[in-house]
Amino acid sequence: MTFANITGWGKCLPPAVLSNDHLSTIMDTSDEWIHSRTGIKARRVSHVSCSALATLAARRALACAGLEASQLDGIILATATPGTLVPNGASAVQQALGAHKAAVFDLNAACTGFVYGLSVGTALVQTGMMKRVLIIGAERLTKLLDWAKRDTAVLFGDGAGAVIIEASEQESGLIANRLGCDGEAREILHIPDFGTDRERFAEIDGLFTFNFEGQEIFKRAVRGMGEATGAVLAQAGITPEQIDLIVPHQANLRIIETLAKRMDAPMEKVMVNIAQYGNTSAATVPIALCEALEQGRVKPNSYLLSAAFGAGLTWGAALIKWGDRVTPLALCDDELPPCQQTGLELIASAVAGCQQADRPR
Ligand code: ACO
Repeated sequence: MTFANITGWGKCLPPAVLSNDHLSTIMDTSDEWIHSRTGIKARRVSHVSCSALATLAARRALACAGLEASQLDGIILATATPGTLVPNGASAVQQALGAHKAAVFDLNAACTGFVYGLSVGTALVQTGMMKRVLIIGAERLTKLLDWAKRDTAVLFGDGAGAVIIEASEQESGLIANRLGCDGEAREILHIPDFGTDRERFAEIDGLFTFNFEGQEIFKRAVRGMGEATGAVLAQAGITPEQIDLIVPHQANLRIIETLAKRMDAPMEKVMVNIAQYGNTSAATVPIALCEALEQGRVKPNSYLLSAAFGAGLTWGAALIKWGDRVTPLALCDDELPPCQQTGLELIASAVAGCQQADRPR
């Protein structure tokens, strides 16, 4: 049987920090409220495009795997916030990397995008259609937010993470998965006017409506991720105690704690970095995975469990058996172009636009 071993990993976090205290200067909120309800202390604001974040994460993953971009057969960019819909964001990554041999597509499953992408990429490798696939989760969510809505503006941030999977005979990579969607609740996390449903000339205030029912999402997230993790463990014949590290979607610390409790797992077995970055949607899982590796928390041949949920409401879980190597083959020295502005400066015009817009909220 062919497996799809994870041989490279990389992340890209834009440098501009937007802390809870920064946010409390532009809206009626506080570090105390945000941190106690969500676990978030700060998030990053990107000064470059979503595909630029994705490309740097990808370059770092390629170096880690010891590969050239020309060796890639496929690029899957999991994102809900591509710079352009036509053409797709993955083609910008292909162009920037020079990955001329790779088939490319974007995959939108919102925050579950990376777990979906890893599943699709693994299937492509297992059928023999491709040998090496780059899977990226990248988002530039700060471009979508309504900065006058404190219930959502405080939750999200920008960033990217990437992995490379390669065909292998050794049992490794994604060994069990369960994907699904709670479509009947698709309205509870919904940006109805970001797409062709939007009346082009009817609303020109530049805002996107952000329908968000936090408590309902919370309940359904816990249920969806709980069912999916139970299913993958059963599929692989693995008990929760055998899981060495849980790498969950980082939407809310309380959701992560509830998931860990359901699995009877101590929090020491859970990778949590939501405090620094907030919810970066499809990017949270690959960023958390990279940081777990950087911190030496992933051991050779260990079992990792990831679970996520997102708009749709999509949900999914992935059981990964790590391979033999937990260190990069090489490092990539590339950096983003320097950013001259602070986080608050980067969002200033959007904040002014949101505050001025004559729209009931
Ligand atoms: N600062 C201060 N007060 C706030 C803020 C804020 N940023 N946001 C809301 N409040 C107020 C509300 O107005 C409300 O005030 P009221 O009682 O006077 O009416 C009060 O705080 C409580 O609001 P709730 O919405 O009930 O707060 P809750 O405890 O449910 O926490 C939260 C909100 C954090 C969003 C929570 O519902 C949640 O985590 N939901 C899960 C969904 C999630 O995390 N989604 C992330 C994105 S989706 C995804 O990843 C796919």
